Amino acid sequence: MDISVIGLGKLGAPLAAIFASKGFRVVGTDADPAVVASINAGRSPVDEPGLQSLMDISQGRLVATNDTPAAVAQTEATFIVVPTPSDSSGRFSNEQVIEAIEAVGQGLRRKNSYHLVILTSTVMPGSTGGALLEVLERASCRIVGQSVGLCYSPEFIALGSVVRDMLRPELLLIGESDPRAGELLQGIYARVCDSQPVVRRMNFVNAELAKIAVNTFVTTKISYANMLGDICGRIEGADVDVVTEAIGSDSRIGGKYLRGAVGYGGPCFPRDNVAFAALAHGLGARADLAEATDAINHYQVDRVFDAIVARQSVPGAIGVLGLSYKPDTAVVEESQGLLLVQRLVRRGYDVLAYDPKAMATARQATPAKFEAMTSAEKCVRAAALVVIMTPWPEFADIAITAFSRPDKRLTVIDCWRIATGPIEAVADLVYLGRGAAGTTARTV
Ligand SMILES: NC(=O)c1ccc[n+]([C@@H]2O[C@H](COP(=O)([O-])OP(=O)(O)OC[C@H]3O[C@@H](n4cnc5c(N)ncnc54)[C@H](O)[C@@H]3O)[C@@H](O)[C@H]2O)c1
Repeated sequence: MDISVIGLGKLGAPLAAIFASKGFRVVGTDADPAVVASINAGRSPVDEPGLQSLMDISQGRLVATNDTPAAVAQTEATFIVVPTPSDSSGRFSNEQVIEAIEAVGQGLRRKNSYHLVILTSTVMPGSTGGALLEVLERASCRIVGQSVGLCYSPEFIALGSVVRDMLRPELLLIGESDPRAGELLQGIYARVCDSQPVVRRMNFVNAELAKIAVNTFVTTKISYANMLGDICGRIEGADVDVVTEAIGSDSRIGGKYLRGAVGYGGPCFPRDNVAFAALAHGLGARADLAEATDAINHYQVDRVFDAIVARQSVPGAIGVLGLSYKPDTAVVEESQGLLLVQRLVRRGYDVLAYDPKAMATARQATPAKFEAMTSAEKCVRAAALVVIMTPWPEFADIAITAFSRPDKRLTVIDCWRIATGPIEAVADLVYLGRGAAGTTARTV
């Protein structure tokens, strides 16, 4: 089977490369000519671990074009992976998906055989079986469920581990127009997955709800752990890691995403609770939990900022380690490190910052005037107080000599508790989330 993938960004490029690496012939399309040129030159258009190696082994099975109708016409299944940015009400916009489906429809008019269309982009519940199905039928002059099948099948991935997450998923969620469509998609995944995932097939709206529910549940866990961390930081002897490890070993709770540290960021999590709340309100339902999760998340930057204000005893620059929203990515969207930098600069602090991958993206993302450092060690050496915002492993290995000061001990606020104990010989190590971490009194 030949596959087309519409949208070759952070999700679409790895998806296309995985299909090609597993023997499918893949035609990818993207609106951005630079992305098309990059794929055709055999270069990964996004920085994602493992992606370049997949492209290297794909041996010409992956090509790209900006002509979506032509790509669709020469393939049997089409994955749509274009952006669905949040609109002013917090709902995901279908505008770019509709544009992509229009082009897919044009391609379908050029062929007669059965075709499967899979929507991978995250959409609001009600979209696939409503407006999107209508557009596909109108644009293709076909009836969904007859000569064209439609599936909604979002990926559960994290940037930095997209390839691994796609190859070894735990859950395959398939919303299907009809059994033939679902069966075909399940068969494609069976050729691709190295794991034995749970497969859940259902109608469109349940799959759309399940996707957004997974993300809002996970973010609720993160905010819960952060709430615990805030409390632990104010009680002598309390340690959020000890508490979360204990409660996480209860299978009703589970330990994943239960680490009290900083808030969640990135292109997906922050907007999911907002979209979920918008959905609920639109239906006349309540979304208190989603709103509280969001409010607790916003509070996390205040919490770190207050800890800095309370701890800064020496005048001088604040060194921020970590600007990406998580390790192994250059993405700074809604990153806690960058939000903290912006807050500090706004409040008149001199800020030095370092991130192993995200210096360029951070510079692009904000006009805030901070000094970009070329290494973690230089950042620590030049700062009057250091705060670790992203748990990059290399931040645990900074030379101890960088922390020592001739006159006064340096304060290091470690939100992730990754800086090693020996630093305590030369600096004051403050683990956020451990008793008396020193945040000033403040409530959500
Ligand atoms: N990035 C994530 O972590 C993640 C995780 C889960 C779900 N998603 C969802 O996946 C979807 C895609 O996200 P992404 O992060 O890959 O976006 P992205 O912005 O990285 O990439 C999207 C690509 O689509 C291209 N594009 C836009 N319109 C097009 C069109 N009409 N035809 C062809 N190409 C077009 C853009 O040029 C871009 O290269 C979104 O709905 C997002 O919510 C993303």
